[in-house]
Amino acid sequence: MTPSGPALVDVAGVEKRFGTTRALRGVGLSLRSGQCLGLVGRNGAGKSTLVSILSGLSEPDAGTVRFDGQPAPRVGDIDGWQMWIATVFQHSMIVPDLSVAENVFLGNTPRLVSWHQMRRRTRDIMREWGLRIAPETPCRDLSVEQLQVVEIVRALVRGARCVILDEPTAALERQAAQRLFERVRQLTASGVGVLYISHHLEEVFEICQDVVVLRDGEVVATAPTASLRRDDLVALMVGDVGQATSARAAAPAGAARPVPGGPASGGPGPGGPGPGGPGPGGPAEQAPAREAGAGPAARAEVVLAVDGLVSDAARGRLSGVSLRVHAGEVVGVTGLLSAGVATLGRAVAGAEDYAAGQVRLHGRRIPPGRRDVAQRAGIGYVPEDRRAEGFVARLGVAENATMTITSQLSDRFGVLRPGHRAAAAAPLTSRLSLVSSGPGQPAGELSGGNQQKITVARTLAHHPSLIVAITPTRGVDVAAKELLLGSLADVASSSEAGVLLCSDELSDLEICDRVIVLVRGEVFTEFTRPPFDRDELIVATEGLTGTTISAAFGGTEYGSAEEAAE
Ligand SMILES: Nc1ncnc2c1ncn2[C@@H]1O[C@H](COP(=O)(O)OP(=O)(O)OP(=O)(O)O)[C@@H](O)[C@H]1O
Ligand SMILES: [Mg+2]
Repeated sequence: MTPSGPALVDVAGVEKRFGTTRALRGVGLSLRSGQCLGLVGRNGAGKSTLVSILSGLSEPDAGTVRFDGQPAPRVGDIDGWQMWIATVFQHSMIVPDLSVAENVFLGNTPRLVSWHQMRRRTRDIMREWGLRIAPETPCRDLSVEQLQVVEIVRALVRGARCVILDEPTAALERQAAQRLFERVRQLTASGVGVLYISHHLEEVFEICQDVVVLRDGEVVATAPTASLRRDDLVALMVGDVGQATSARAAAPAGAARPVPGGPASGGPGPGGPGPGGPGPGGPAEQAPAREAGAGPAARAEVVLAVDGLVSDAARGRLSGVSLRVHAGEVVGVTGLLSAGVATLGRAVAGAEDYAAGQVRLHGRRIPPGRRDVAQRAGIGYVPEDRRAEGFVARLGVAENATMTITSQLSDRFGVLRPGHRAAAAAPLTSRLSLVSSGPGQPAGELSGGNQQKITVARTLAHHPSLIVAITPTRGVDVAAKELLLGSLADVASSSEAGVLLCSDELSDLEICDRVIVLVRGEVFTEFTRPPFDRDELIVATEGLTGTTISAAFGGTEYGSAEEAAE
């Protein structure tokens, strides 16, 4: 582990300002050949700013970047930088109108290689990743996960000596993430240096030998991961013992819900009917009575009724999904990416058309694909792709957060003072620990995690009677995640709203009263008693139950329902 010769990448005294924000202050780090170095920090700590400097996209105000002892190429010399560094950015850099193969080889077209060969090569690589994406597919038709795989593959085929991965697994499901770790190990074994950025600290412990912690633009620690516990890392990131403790409380999966003030815990949700899903019911329908431990939703009114939903969406089909969400209840929906979890969320929120079935809110039918009607009826929506649907980049933080309630904030002449907006946005943004330079800062300038908080704030401001949230904590740091989930749970307990939480992030499900598992577009099973067992959830998402579970944990190879279907 002793460095021999100059580091592959050496950063010293790097400063970067954006107006009044000091995004990086005297940052220094070095990455050696064969090393996987973690870079962690809270939302807005400066990680992506450093990535854009290391990728040659922006110039530091001061400080130096050296590759193998040589000064880095000048900013804008794309070929010069690409020899050294390949980056998977936090925000997609995929060109939607180009095909998968074209994107993979974009700016990297090998000489003397025909399109035919490139397509074949792309098909082989995709197969290695367990994805059947035809190389000719235009990228605009891909899901968020598929796009991310294309980005990763594009970076890895370049053959650069350093690879930077800025939250590469944010949109990847478990198996794809494992494949990525495998690739990272192969790369480091062959001498490539990897800079790995993630809010999933367990990943950092799994694949990084060392970790650099950024806080408010400064490096506060550089240490071997083996010398740190998770709690130490969180404390270093948060820099405040009190907050670190509360973030830690949220850490263990499967523990009791971490949310103070969340819906009264302990009671299971309404007893689910198990596989097959609840049958259809009328608008005035009540939750079935339960034997023991009746929770808040026991006799509550049905807020959301979904019956026989069928969708042939390419990103995940649904073949007849039915479910109920009661007032004050948080219902989780989880499954593998292709299982239709996000499709269900989009369909319920009116963001996507569907082929058959019904969505009713308080008994009133919501027409398919009409987000406007759904929103007016009281369905709040935290979309999966926040950059496309979640906020307006050039509008300010306060304007984005209060966009859904503009008419309520206006006076009787329809005039809205900016001060009113800022005042209405302030409690929401502070609650979610949103970091910005002020209420007027354009949302497009915020860090990735803070943009996600804006989309959640916007949904909460509207006081919806149902919130549909798709992977709401994606990209959000460990401490803010707890606050964000806490506010969703609070909405359910305090306003009698229902929450439909569509997520493959198992720790998100800790706030749920019930969790429905989808397998290949159908309700496979339902967990009705929190706390939910993490391993059981994982096994269920693979479409396995009963005896197959013990086989799976006995170390035997097991096939998933996905594979069995092939
Ligand atoms: N183009 C910009 N204009 C103004 N401020 C910016 C710009 N880009 C970044 N910032 C600010 O710089 C700070 C660091 O942002 P950065 O994106 O590097 O954070 P991050 O550590 O990647 O966070 P996250 O975990 O949320 O992705 C933030 O306060 C952000 O608002
Ligand atoms: Mg970032």
